[in-house]
Amino acid sequence: MLIELEYNVISEVITKTLTRKFLGNEKVMGLNMAFYDPNEKNIDHKKVHVTKGLVFTPNNEVLHLEGPVTGEYISRLKMDEGLSNFRPPKNQQEALITICNLQNGKVFVARHDNNIIGYVTFHHPDEYSRWHNHPWVLELGAIEVTKSWRKYRVAYHLIKEAFSNSFVEEFIIITIEYCWHWDLRNSQLTIWDYQKMLTKLFASVDLKKRATDDPDILEHPANVLMVRHGNNVPKEAVQRFEELTFKSKYL
Ligand SMILES: CC(C)(COP(=O)(O)OP(=O)(O)OC[C@H]1O[C@@H](n2cnc3c(N)ncnc32)[C@H](O)[C@@H]1OP(=O)(O)O)[C@@H](O)C(=O)NCCC(=O)NCCS
Repeated sequence: MLIELEYNVISEVITKTLTRKFLGNEKVMGLNMAFYDPNEKNIDHKKVHVTKGLVFTPNNEVLHLEGPVTGEYISRLKMDEGLSNFRPPKNQQEALITICNLQNGKVFVARHDNNIIGYVTFHHPDEYSRWHNHPWVLELGAIEVTKSWRKYRVAYHLIKEAFSNSFVEEFIIITIEYCWHWDLRNSQLTIWDYQKMLTKLFASVDLKKRATDDPDILEHPANVLMVRHGNNVPKEAVQRFEELTFKSKYL
């Protein structure tokens, strides 16, 4: 079942946040929110393509936060040219479609007109990861906002939207932040300020920094593992996660 919220109360909070950010005639956005019931296996993209919006600007720009979306839906949209942090936009669009089709793969997008201007992805850890065979672990793989929309709190609202879905309570959600993926050049942040920016962003949805002896993460002191335990994850799964996170301790 898809629930579209009448979100007058939420919108008041968001409006305050956004009007603080978007003073004067700067770019301003409205927000749409779709909530997904994980028991519904075949998502109809038309259902998650919500139509309500809040418009905050004289120039009527509206941003939609949607998800989890289907691969078919993503294929009908255009990737903004500035979504090139990880790979060229067209290739990244294909990667997003692939993730949508994975078991438990989920993609949330920020859409402006027909353009994807931001996304966040979830999938099981890949085969090279030490958490690969842990069925309760889901990785927040990437979050990206196109360059021209950065620092408007799009990432913040998109991630909040994703974590308002009940699937997050069914998994141990991890994110592994490798500093070599960061866009230091465009952000003009130092590596440590970038790390602080990301850990604060992820902390806003209750991911917490975790120590690990994973050699890939230890390869650079700025790399970070962050973790959130869903409420419905059994104790045994948490224990297994601990064993995998500190392998040397449990050998
Ligand atoms: C990281 C990224 C997704 C942030 O997107 P964004 O929409 O610009 O982020 P937001 O506007 O929601 O900002 C979130 C917080 O970070 C801060 N922030 C973001 N970029 C910043 C910058 N360049 N300098 C200072 N602060 C910054 C914001 O001020 C905000 O802080 P607040 O909550 O105190 O207001 C974006 O920079 C990006 O796509 N980077 C390239 C890909 C990447 O590094 N992804 C993360 C690893 S997977």
